[in-house]
Amino acid sequence: MSTTKSTNIHWHDGHLTRDERYGMLGASGCTVWFTGLSASGKSTVAAALEQVIVQRGIHCYRMDGDNIRFGLNKNLGFSAEDRAENIRRIGEVAKLFADSGSIALTSFISPYTADRDAARALHEETGLRFIEVYVDTPIDVCEERDPKGLYKKARAGEIKGFTGIDDPYEAPEKAELVLRPAEQSVEDCVRSCLELLEREGLLVSRQEAGVNG
Ligand code: ADX
Repeated sequence: MSTTKSTNIHWHDGHLTRDERYGMLGASGCTVWFTGLSASGKSTVAAALEQVIVQRGIHCYRMDGDNIRFGLNKNLGFSAEDRAENIRRIGEVAKLFADSGSIALTSFISPYTADRDAARALHEETGLRFIEVYVDTPIDVCEERDPKGLYKKARAGEIKGFTGIDDPYEAPEKAELVLRPAEQSVEDCVRSCLELLEREGLLVSRQEAGVNG
């Protein structure tokens, strides 16, 4: 699906390096990539994290699997090929946000290791940080929660190819952070994310950077 069809195109550089942009804005962009089963708590943690980061005056924007499928990715379903394209597009969009100096938060099931690794490579090959956060909630807990009633439908055969039921989820083996919302509160999960970002020097605010205005 992502074969290259564009020809005769030429890259046009801007007038700023990334470091100049970050320095002038008092920012340091990166992508925090949440992955996990449906109802694992990815979106809940990402939304809470986004709020805390923005309250600190740091630009942060969240992209959510369900939400993005209302617009940009509305033409994609849940086959392995469509999920790969879903993740490829979001990898590209998150990279743009990160490059612009924002902390991009993505919460997509992103069940395939190869697709997540491709999103990581997109970032790392241009020197952008990509932080993979595995939201490790056991399927029986997700199924018990079932906030959208989708596990029930999948068990009843009304949804085919539902992740964790009759479609695979490949758990990350080298995620930068593992969260266990079944055992930790949302606040604890947010704190772990903030600590990691802080340790990595990625929570830069205009104020701390001494940028006026
Ligand atoms: S991904 O696999 O391509 O990364 P994404 O995160 O965008 O998935 O969307 C997952 C959401 O779509 C789920 O939280 C759920 O609400 C909904 N959904 C609908 N059908 C499926 C399905 N077959 N498998 C998983 N999630 C599904």
